[in-house]
Amino acid sequence: MTETQKQAALAHIAALLDEQSARATRIAQKSEFIDYSKLEKLVIGVCGGDGIGPTITQEAANVLKYLLANEIKAEKIELRDIGGLTIENRAACGKAIPDEVLAELKKCHVILKGPTTTPQAGDGWPNIESANVAMRKELDLFANMRPVRVPEQGIDWTFFRENTEGAYAVGSRGLNVTDELAMDFTVTTTEGTRRIAKLAYEFARANGKERVSIVTKANVIKTTDGKFLSLAKEIAEEYKEIVTDEWYIDILTAKLIDEKRRRDFRVFVLPNLYGDIITDEAAEFQGGVGTAGSANIGKQYAMFEAIHGSAPRMVAEGRAKYADPCSMLRATAMLLSHIGKTCQGDRLNRALDVCMNEEKRLVITGRDTGCTCREFGEYVCEVLG
Ligand code: IPM
Ligand code: MG
Repeated sequence: MTETQKQAALAHIAALLDEQSARATRIAQKSEFIDYSKLEKLVIGVCGGDGIGPTITQEAANVLKYLLANEIKAEKIELRDIGGLTIENRAACGKAIPDEVLAELKKCHVILKGPTTTPQAGDGWPNIESANVAMRKELDLFANMRPVRVPEQGIDWTFFRENTEGAYAVGSRGLNVTDELAMDFTVTTTEGTRRIAKLAYEFARANGKERVSIVTKANVIKTTDGKFLSLAKEIAEEYKEIVTDEWYIDILTAKLIDEKRRRDFRVFVLPNLYGDIITDEAAEFQGGVGTAGSANIGKQYAMFEAIHGSAPRMVAEGRAKYADPCSMLRATAMLLSHIGKTCQGDRLNRALDVCMNEEKRLVITGRDTGCTCREFGEYVCEVLG
């Protein structure tokens, strides 16, 4: 490493430090969660994304319109289309989220978002940051809540993945110090950890879940995971009626496939990257990532999405119309509950249980051997009655 390389690296790190320290101060300034019941009109932004995103989001928006017909008619709720979050557009302006799209998103209270293509080095797109990750940071959506349920196997899990810090905080701004040496950074803040842990424990308390598992790799990633673990344990002290246990991510990943042990788990709280990985594994027990919705919750905004990507291969092979909308429909049910329309959210989840697991009159296969996305959406509305 030459002196020039070292100075360039130090300047880069100094900029990251300034930015993360400012963020830590900002989030530590207490603010309350928005109260949707006090709004004159609640605006739901519908953002199709790209790949199969627009197809599955359209179906979810149709169901949302159907379930909120009265509120929309009374102008209590508005569904607003937000275009422009396509990979072509993002690549053209070299931004994870184009400025005008971000400005529109910020005018909404909650967002229903289709998958967006995440560029990676060598795939032909400029290597810009993921739109998901950027949106979570821009809107400070610090909690990624992902439920997985398989009642007949006793699986009833809710993951609280920290959504703005960890390996993702500056994930697109690592450092190639020399041709030999590359470094990435991982970030834990006090408030960032406390707020996700609190939300997980509050959820457990409000929903009668008897156990919260704190998951880290604090034996190796001693500083940032160590901080996450000790702060989460401090929060646990305030919830004496709930059993807290601690797991390392490697053994927890194994235990999720242990049929005897996995029934005991209920709520998990964990740093960003572990949460990303393990929720894909968990969703597999329920039928795959295509069945799983995800809520990204902040104090001011919330965004609801599928847990999977935009499946560009399905589009390239002309199969977009056979895409499975269930993940977006589950996300829609979470959105409804989040804005206080719990009854409609429960109805939608119930209808999805019937269509996906019980009656299965139409089946999605992702190809012309099954029904189309549109037909499945209509089937759900029919079952909703
Ligand atoms: C998810 C996805 C995203 C993530 C990708 C698309 C950037 O895998 O929502 O889990 O890593 O968070
Ligand atoms: Mg993921």
